[in-house]
Amino acid sequence: MTKKASAIANSNIALVKYWGKRNEDLILPYNSSISVTLDKIYTHTTVEFSENLKRDIIIINDKEINTQDSEYEEYVGRFLKKLRELYPNKAKNLNAKIVSRNNFPTAAGLASSASGFAALALACNEALELNLSKKELSILARLGSGSACRSIYGGFVEWRKGIFEDGRDSYAEQIATKEHWPDFRIIICITSSKEKKIKSRAGMKQTVLTSPFYKAWLETIEEDIRLVKKGIIEKDFKLVGSVAELNCLRMHSTMITTKPPIIYWNGATIEIINLVLRLREEGIECYFTIDAGPQVKILCLEEFVKDIVERIKEVNEIENIIITSPGDDAKVTNEHLF
Ligand code: PMV
Repeated sequence: MTKKASAIANSNIALVKYWGKRNEDLILPYNSSISVTLDKIYTHTTVEFSENLKRDIIIINDKEINTQDSEYEEYVGRFLKKLRELYPNKAKNLNAKIVSRNNFPTAAGLASSASGFAALALACNEALELNLSKKELSILARLGSGSACRSIYGGFVEWRKGIFEDGRDSYAEQIATKEHWPDFRIIICITSSKEKKIKSRAGMKQTVLTSPFYKAWLETIEEDIRLVKKGIIEKDFKLVGSVAELNCLRMHSTMITTKPPIIYWNGATIEIINLVLRLREEGIECYFTIDAGPQVKILCLEEFVKDIVERIKEVNEIENIIITSPGDDAKVTNEHLF
């Protein structure tokens, strides 16, 4: 039996989005991406490997996952298979017990797979005593879910797409720590906590195959990466916000023009978009970004949080608001869930 190990990883929100894989099996992206790691919303995971377990046992948010399920096979099952292939001496003949909890709605466009696989990678590293570097941890997390490779780090993070077939150069690196820009805020507006109908994995695959705009999307990425990175380093909020907002709309334009169309927005999503545009006209500097779900994240600086939160009340159907700041690196904890 291995030691029991636990880890906590924060979620992240992309400022330059990842959408589309050049290699489905190794989760290698067509484009690089940049994100900010979010404090307050995280996954806490405990793992233990043992020869005494008859099979893998996975409990997410207090619910046991059926390991015969195709969804399990595509996510946690796939990750464990990769882990056992990569580290046969440590993990091959052991089954795992994994208990994991999100403190936010799962699979609703709040990047639960990002924090989930970052926490799982770190907890496995600890339990199996793999002694992986941050770079190797980022690669391991990537094999669970692309965006997870960014949640290994706190602050502002870039995932370089890499060029090698085996993915050895496709991992995340920190651009700046959270202390670099402490007054950066992300206001998460939850418009629906229901599970989304189309998971990112299936959605992006279909977009790559069918959207006539996918090629055009890829052509805009390098410039967005350059500008957002510059904006982060120089703490130029207008530059970061405006480029992130347009990048989000470009990604959604590839989703909407997928066949069959992928439309993640609901009525409240559009109302918040319009509110953000109105607020800017009134001199309140803020921008929106949206991932594969109906939630809107409003980017702003601390000085405008109060005004924006007050005005969000104009929009009906918002279920919850979470105000987040740049968060920490994923970390090991002694608090075990079983
Ligand atoms: O890593 P995944 O499969 O959860 O995909 C993430 C896709 C987006 O959230 C839409 C964009 C991103 O870069 O996080």
